[in-house]
Amino acid sequence: MCGIIGYTGRNEAEGIMLDALEVLEYRGYDSAGIAVCGEDHQVRIRKCAGRVKDLRSLCERDGLSGVCGIGHTRWATHGGVSDANAHPHQFGGVTVIHNGIIENYKSLIAQYKLEEKLKSQTDSEVAAAVASHFYNGDPYAAIRKTVLKLKGTFALGIMFEDIPDVIFAVRNVSPIVVARTEEGSMMASDVTALGQYSKDYFVLPEFHVATLKKESVELYDMSGEPVEPQWLTVNWDVNRSSKGGYPFYMEKEIMEQPQVIRETIEPRMKEGLPDLTQDGIPDSLLTECSQICVVACGTAMHAGLVGKALMQSFVKMHMDVELASEFMYTDSLVDGKTLVIAISQSGETIDTLEALKYAKRNGAKTLAIVNVKGASIARESDYVIYTNAGPEIAVASTKAYTTQLAALYLLTGRMAYARGVFDEAATRAFMAELQRAPEAIQKVLDRREEIHYIARRILNAKDVFMIGRGMDYSILLEGSLKLKEISYIHSEAYASGELKHGTIALITQDTPVIAVITQDKVQSKEFSNVKEVQSRGAEVILFMKENYRLDEDASWDSVFKLPQMRDEFMVMPVSAALQLLAYYVSLDKGLDVDKPRNLAKVVTVE
Ligand code: M6R
Repeated sequence: MCGIIGYTGRNEAEGIMLDALEVLEYRGYDSAGIAVCGEDHQVRIRKCAGRVKDLRSLCERDGLSGVCGIGHTRWATHGGVSDANAHPHQFGGVTVIHNGIIENYKSLIAQYKLEEKLKSQTDSEVAAAVASHFYNGDPYAAIRKTVLKLKGTFALGIMFEDIPDVIFAVRNVSPIVVARTEEGSMMASDVTALGQYSKDYFVLPEFHVATLKKESVELYDMSGEPVEPQWLTVNWDVNRSSKGGYPFYMEKEIMEQPQVIRETIEPRMKEGLPDLTQDGIPDSLLTECSQICVVACGTAMHAGLVGKALMQSFVKMHMDVELASEFMYTDSLVDGKTLVIAISQSGETIDTLEALKYAKRNGAKTLAIVNVKGASIARESDYVIYTNAGPEIAVASTKAYTTQLAALYLLTGRMAYARGVFDEAATRAFMAELQRAPEAIQKVLDRREEIHYIARRILNAKDVFMIGRGMDYSILLEGSLKLKEISYIHSEAYASGELKHGTIALITQDTPVIAVITQDKVQSKEFSNVKEVQSRGAEVILFMKENYRLDEDASWDSVFKLPQMRDEFMVMPVSAALQLLAYYVSLDKGLDVDKPRNLAKVVTVE
């Protein structure tokens, strides 16, 4: 969490950094700040609690001139949200921006007698103080000694006042990417902030130091030996990082889904069959395992739940879906016969990364489904399937989720085929249905104003229940998370058959219920469960497959008919509908849809 940026070159740094920080704001938006090295070699800071727009206003009143600077947008961990705790932090002649957590900051304060000298409550200022302690003119020695002292995760951008216009970067776990532009050098937490300046970048290896100068970028290992960077190319169009005329990224990203799902599926289809050779995935990976386990968090974990239903119903394989944050602490049983799939949009979620490392230590084969090219989880895994969702900026995940689903369908199709569970005809039929998903989603998107109208019915609700069975329940878990995080309405997804075992006590005329009914085999039971909540006075908003018939005796408050697909694929149109529902509630409540309170897009703290 936290976004960091650095620029040194021929142009003024302030504007470049403010623009980049706006792009990075999805990583945290409690405070923002920049430091710029002036012509007189003084490093000056502007920072404030609040958003980048507040920092921009501050800079408009009292700007900073200079061609080299570092900037930061914060998600608070240590120390409250305040001007003083905003980055950059300066100690002596050392100025630092930091993403991560310095776990041993208290003992460092004691060891270097910093108690009276610090101006903030952050762990990050301690890193600046330790670097200042070690600095005697040799930046590499100071950085090496500092990082040896730090316990925890860090991505640091560092400026030394007597080395003007040069930025040093070093990291452990937390990400940093570095790029050369036409007129300078840049570093950032991720490539979305650099995309408009350069397509070529490298991921700073852990415990290496990047030196950014106007004319060049140098990379050294900890012993001071030069290292050749491994250059990558940005794999998305920079225009995809803009709002494209939509009021919020979330709406734009919802609307992009048909296209990005196609872009995830089509390169992996050959003559109607799923083909993972471009990802370098051998069939042996899919045939030699005896169980599968997904590790993931939040939305990505919900994608895993759909994957589980697919694997069990089509491949007849046992699959567990584990919360990555719990995985290591529950003595999870994985071995050489387990295929562990780590799902992550950012590829940087630390819980997922640590769970993946745990799985590897226990001998499991690993496969990552990741959106961001070159991210830590992708690099740590034996194999990777990249989703081609393009940059997802809104904190609420939408297109990343449905492209993760697309990857899981591809994997299911290939696995069923490779293991001989599907013959060629069955595989082709399965893939043909997957190829219909973008069109089914588009049909829902085209009717978004109907969903906007329905959303008004829950605008003032305090609590909402979402009910369904089987795969409907899996998708509701995601729909409910979406509603909670961006509308602040308490919402609970419940397996509808389970309600009568306790929770139905909470259903009253004041608790709207959102029901999803799309699964033929449980359809009649789901309708019965809906009647049960209607009998308790609840208003029901129903999303159902378009060919289902409604009981004419019952009165229906709102019904949205979903385009018909095979049952196992209905999660695709349903997810678009539930994403739009949450979006419109948040929009009509006047909330900041893209940046819900207390959250950040990339979660790099445990
Ligand atoms: O980057 P990841 O997919 O690993 O992130 C995991 C979760 O933090 C994420 O899915 C989160 O739940 C969503 N942003 C919520 O919409």
